[in-house]
Order: sequence, then C-alpha cells, then structure tokens
Amino acid sequence: MTSLQSIISDHLAGAFRALELDPGYGRANLSNRPDLCEYQCNGALAAAKAAKRNPMEIAEAVAEKLAADPLFEKAEAVKPGFINLNISPGALAAHLNELARETAFGVDKPGVGKTAVIDYGGANVAKPLHVGHLRSAIIGESIKRLYAFMGYEAIGDVHLGDWGLQMGLVIEAVKDEQPDLPYFDPAYQGDYPAEPPFGIADLERIYPAASARAKEDAAFSERAHLATLKLQQGNPGYRALFNHILAVSRADLKKNYDGLNVHFELWKGESDVQELIPGMLADFDEQGIIEESEGARVIYVAKADDAKEIPPCLVQKSDGAYLYATTDLATIVEREALYHPAEIFYITDKRQSMHFEQVFRAARRAGLVPESCVLSHLGYGTMNGKDGKPFKTRDGGVLRLEYLLKEVQEAVYERMADTELPEEEKRQTAGIIGLAALKYGDLSNQATKDYVFDLERFTSFEGNTGPYLLYTAVRIRSILRKCREAGLSLGPIQPAAGPGEKALQLQLTRGGQTIEEAFREKAPHKLCQYLYELAGLFSAFYRDNHILKETDKDRQQGWISLLEEAEKTLVSFCDLLGFGIPERM
Ligand code: ARG
Repeated sequence: MTSLQSIISDHLAGAFRALELDPGYGRANLSNRPDLCEYQCNGALAAAKAAKRNPMEIAEAVAEKLAADPLFEKAEAVKPGFINLNISPGALAAHLNELARETAFGVDKPGVGKTAVIDYGGANVAKPLHVGHLRSAIIGESIKRLYAFMGYEAIGDVHLGDWGLQMGLVIEAVKDEQPDLPYFDPAYQGDYPAEPPFGIADLERIYPAASARAKEDAAFSERAHLATLKLQQGNPGYRALFNHILAVSRADLKKNYDGLNVHFELWKGESDVQELIPGMLADFDEQGIIEESEGARVIYVAKADDAKEIPPCLVQKSDGAYLYATTDLATIVEREALYHPAEIFYITDKRQSMHFEQVFRAARRAGLVPESCVLSHLGYGTMNGKDGKPFKTRDGGVLRLEYLLKEVQEAVYERMADTELPEEEKRQTAGIIGLAALKYGDLSNQATKDYVFDLERFTSFEGNTGPYLLYTAVRIRSILRKCREAGLSLGPIQPAAGPGEKALQLQLTRGGQTIEEAFREKAPHKLCQYLYELAGLFSAFYRDNHILKETDKDRQQGWISLLEEAEKTLVSFCDLLGFGIPERM
C-alpha cells in the first residue's frame, strides 16, 4: 500500500507538473518542526535554482494549487521557499482506516521468493558465551526478523567458532585428566562411547585453565597445537571427542541464546566447511587468482581507487594451515550451493570490517556467488562500562552473558517491589521486562557506535527504555480490556478533533515506512525511535481524552480502533526487536 508520504509526494508532483516544472521536485519529507507543519517540501528551492527563478514565487504557486486540494488542510509557502503542509483530518482518518485493514502495515515485501542468510551469534565453542557476543546476538536477531518481515526466507546461522586451537587445548587437558579414555588410544577399534566424558561445568573449568597453562607451559602449548592439527587431519579419537565438545557446548549455548530470545535456523560452524577447502583452493589456482607472498598464499583484492590500503586476503599460511578468511570463503561456497541466497549478511564487531571487506572481494574475484548476490557486513561498536572502557565485571574479568541477563532481570525485579502480582508472575514478568531492558538498551543506539551499559538507566520505567515501552503497551492493553468488559465496540477511526489525536494518527500511518527504513539501513534503532515517539504520543492523547467516559459513540468507537492500531504496532515492533510484552506489570 502506498504510504501517506508517497501520496502527498504524488500530489506535490502534480502541482509542480501543472506549473510546467519537473515533477521530481515534488517530494514530501516528514517535517522536522512538527510545531509548524506535518510535511514539508523543499523542491521549490531546487526548482528555482535550476530555472533561475525566485524560489518564493514557485513555492507560493505550488502552495496555491495544493490549498485547493482536499488532501490538505494547509499548504503554505514560507521563506526562503519551503512549502509547509498539513494533511486534512478527514483524509488522514480515511487513510488510517484503509491501512488498518492491511496486514504488515501495508509494507510491500521485496523479499518474497528470495533467501537471505544472516550470519550472527558467532560464539566460540568450549568458551563461555561472553558479553562480546551479546551485540551480535541482539542486533542479528532483530535484523533477521526484519528480513523475514520483508518476505525473505531468512536463515539465521550461528556460525560457531569451532575449529581453532581451543579444541586442541581442551583435548590435551582432558587427556591429562583422564588418560585412559579410548579416544587417546591409537589402537582402539570399537565404537566410541555415546556419552561425553565431561559436562558443561567441566568444559568451563577446563578451557580457561588450559588456555592459561598454554601461556606458561611451552610443551603443553606445543601439544595443544599438535592435537589441533591431528583433529583437523581427521584423527578418529580426536574427532569423536571433538563431537562431544561440540554437542555439550551447543546445548549450553542454545540455552543461553534461548534466554535471550535468539533462535537460529542453522547451528553450523567453521568445522562444517573444512572439507570444501582443498577443492576451493584448487579452483582458485585454476582461475589463477592465488599468488605467493612470503611463502604464504594470498588473493590480491586491492583496487586502484581504494581510499585506504586493503591488504591481500590470506588463504593459506606457509605451514599449510588455513585461516579465518579461508573458512569464510568456503562457507560462502557452501551457502551458495545449499541456499542460493540473494543476500548474505554478517553481524560482528566492527574490528572485523577489514576481514569481511577482504573476504567479499576475494569471493567476487573467484566468482563464488552471482553478481546479484549481496554480501554485506554490519560492524557494531563496543558495549562499554561507565568508565568508557569495554565492559568488564567488577573484578575486571569478562562477564558471562548468563550473569549479565540475570543481573538486569534482578534489577527490574527490585524496581517492581510495589507491584501487586503473585510472586511467580512477578518473577516471570521481571524476566520479560529485563530482557527488553537489555535489548532495547542496546538496539536503541545506532549499531555502529559504542554505547555505555547503564543498568540504572536501562531498567528505568521512565524515559527512552524497554520497560517504559512495555509499560505503555500493557497500559493500552488494559484500557482495551476495560473497553471490552464495558461492552464497547470498535468503529471507524474518526477525523482527529485535536492536535494530540492527530499527531497520534499521523504516527500510526508511519509504521510501515519506518520498518522499510530500518530494513533498508539495517538500523533497528529506527524502530526504537519510532516506538518511543509513539509511546509519548499515546500518553499525551490518553491524558486528554477519556475513552470510557466519552458520550459521542462514533468518537469513542474510533478511539478504541485507534488504540487497537497502537497496540498492534507495539506488538509487531517489539517482536521485530526480539522481545515480548507481559500480560500485566
Ligand atoms: N567466531 C567469530 C568471533 O568470535 C565470529 C564469527 C562471525 N561469522 C563469520 N562468518 N566469520 O569473532
């Protein structure tokens, strides 16, 4: 469905055309001064410049045409040549009533029939999930939901880091603790045990200890490297042990991601594509795109017009080992073969931007995906502590994600001291609100920027926070419930009688457009901004209008529909952000 803004633009274009000016100048923008007007057009300025005419004259002529158009309540030219527009309340209500019958806010779905792979999460197996991976999970989940909303078959892949030295470290440490396990017996012929010889608590203890030991104990470090190599060469005992590590780790990661309401369609990892690498490199060789550089093998990816230096993409070290980029290239090969995606989208820390630039360019040179396949990377900033440095625990360690979420949920629970809910529901509700506090605290910032984790602010029920939005949603629901209990019914939305009502209606016409923008720019913060504005407009409207007491039936029924629309919008937007709304709070 055409957005109100586009409809207004069409009318503007018509007026420009009627004045024998390029209709392209007739574009409406949202006003950045809502106190002066609702929409604004700056086209007269550009048109005047091109035609060497007086901008005010053109603006006045356009405004005069539009003043006679029933779509507008006001069309006026203001110096030096802006056209300020207000929509007529009748046209606005009619548009909103039409929109209310649409699904998905009238958004056209460009992704129908296309597949998008969203690569996010990126946890490393055997290592506990820490806050460094928090943003990838939170932002990635929201972006994946935006893709799905746009009609794509959106495939989220957690793409685990499961092929590095950490595997060798764990294997050697297990060997030291339990040397008699069959995995370490080269002569062993039978089936390996189905049960893992360790649980997640053991892994959590083993990995940090082994990692620390390797830093001091050169012989141990050497063994771990060797074990990693043996595993990668397919040693059956190590492979079996590796599968145990993977299974135990995955189960724990899944629990953590579930707690964040983050869900992956695929639980693949770096290990899954190792077998594709030799063939891929042979193909690169055949194409002649691999070159030797100091004993290593690289693909040159720099271009003449690069503003900064893009180093070659390293695909094999001099000792034969493959690298992060090699695995990512092979993963593109696999994704193309399995899903033929229209887009592959990666979400990681922005420090990996260069890596992805190199990988994408190498993939293009090698023709791993068709030209039409979009490869993009969103690099997010760091979550900092109040000291402005990357977030750490009080004792300076890396914080596990699980504890961070619990801490936020606990803080919300404490703020709910006066809430009259049964204890169990209160705990549950604090859980939902806490998740929203954490996610909204993150997503309301532009993803590429750093932000400060501020427990106090994030969990506040006032201001631009997750809890405030949920509180607004719950409030709207409770009003709607009361209306239902009073036997009141819905009716068409009526032309707004006052500015507060009109502002709320206008905001509700802009939901679809906001989702489109958030999707186009991969910017969930735009959803947050919209919601915060919506919540404020609702509160102001509700302060001034008493729905239950209203005596004009048409108005009352129209208001109930208006609130239904607001509720629907809040629910969908919160879902796109990746959190739910509690029943009561
Ligand atoms: N495991 C990586 C890390 O911890 C992130 C993986 C991101 N995805 C990818 N295809 N490289 O940094």
